[in-house]
Amino acid sequence: MFYRPQDGHGLPHNPFNAIVTPRPIGWISTRDTDGVNNLAPYSFFNAIAYTPPQVMFSSTGAKPDHDTSKDSVNNIRETGVFCVNVVEYAARDAMNASSATLAKEVDEFAHAGLEAVECDTIACARVGGAPASLECKLTQIVQLPGASNWLVLGEVTGVHMRDDCIVNGRFDISTFQPLTRLGYRDYSRVTEVFEIIRPDD
Ligand SMILES: Cc1cc2nc3c(=O)[nH]c(=O)nc-3n(C[C@H](O)[C@H](O)[C@H](O)COP(=O)(O)O)c2cc1C
Repeated sequence: MFYRPQDGHGLPHNPFNAIVTPRPIGWISTRDTDGVNNLAPYSFFNAIAYTPPQVMFSSTGAKPDHDTSKDSVNNIRETGVFCVNVVEYAARDAMNASSATLAKEVDEFAHAGLEAVECDTIACARVGGAPASLECKLTQIVQLPGASNWLVLGEVTGVHMRDDCIVNGRFDISTFQPLTRLGYRDYSRVTEVFEIIRPDD
């Protein structure tokens, strides 16, 4: 089949995010100007450069208690920092709990039963016990076409890795099985790893 997005897909559910899969989940922690911690998962997320290391995520839609965005984007706009926490399979329920649409005064660390640990390079909390966390300084917020679509770009200023995830000098994802987002209500976890040698190696 073929469809033009402006004409609709004619299927029971939008297939778009089932086509672009699997997506890593950036579990984004921020803090508002009153000191309230915030945490939410974003699967429009990725790493985008090595030197300096940079990441992006995008927020679609707004909350009733903000004009044009969600809490994460609003907080980053005000403070200029955020932290990306990696979601392991074992944390799937807490990740899901943190995605609830809650009033901006609600701390999703507490709501999801997670430990908030202070970051080293930015004034923000990270998820205690996460396999890895990337402390980031905002570089740009880009308004995308459509209503309330925001691309957030950041430079990584600090990297945490859980000690048990480092095996023989490598960050070994088999120790925690990263949770990935598929389409619809579907998720997957990485359980199998194999190597492919590049032609230039
Ligand atoms: C696995 C998962 C991935 C999500 N990815 C996104 C995303 O990429 N962009 C987005 O705007 N919302 C995404 N959401 C929804 C947000 O997490 C949700 O709207 C949340 O309440 C936003 O919180 P905030 O207002 O504290 O930023 C996702 C939810 C889940 C469960």
